[in-house]
Amino acid sequence: MDFQFVGKHYAARTHEKMQEVLMDPNAGGPSIHYYMIRGGKDQRNVTVWEPGMISGEYIKTYGHYHVGQLDENYYILLGEGVALLQKRAKDANGEPLDDVIESFKAIPVKAGDHVYMPPEEGHLVVNTGNTYFVTADDSPVNFDEANPVSMPGHADYEPVKRMRGFAYYVVEKDGKPALKKNPLYKEIQSEDLGGLPVSN
Ligand SMILES: [Fe+2]
Repeated sequence: MDFQFVGKHYAARTHEKMQEVLMDPNAGGPSIHYYMIRGGKDQRNVTVWEPGMISGEYIKTYGHYHVGQLDENYYILLGEGVALLQKRAKDANGEPLDDVIESFKAIPVKAGDHVYMPPEEGHLVVNTGNTYFVTADDSPVNFDEANPVSMPGHADYEPVKRMRGFAYYVVEKDGKPALKKNPLYKEIQSEDLGGLPVSN
């Protein structure tokens, strides 16, 4: 076993960083939203979400698109949540349009479930339960990068930052998860909301 990078495996996503993508950026929240232990494809990556809501929005990961044709698998180890996947439409030159979504999917998940994240489908996962939400995934990590654990180089966070989150926020409605449209998105061409209601 190579222990050389063990000291670099841990990172935490702060409230300050998450304000870039929250439905209500000015609302208070936990100092840390989620914790990451990144061991890459061999050891796997473990993510632990705090439970709770920020102005009615459940705690989530920041969300990103992959650079290139990389896919990944998430295995839910504890808790319940909702995975969001969205694929951007492309312009005439084949460049992705951040505000036009070709397909959007919401997938309710719980411990024991597996979610496949195909290439080009941006993804984030939300903790809708009262416990920690914990996943293991097989995304690669390259410790030669500048910020490999917190912001890995294969992940593009900028489109999500520009759009202040995904096409829908996952919010609480009547004590249950529901979806609330992000008004910055112009168009969603097809959507599968996984049986979740839409909140106005
Ligand atoms: Fe990813």
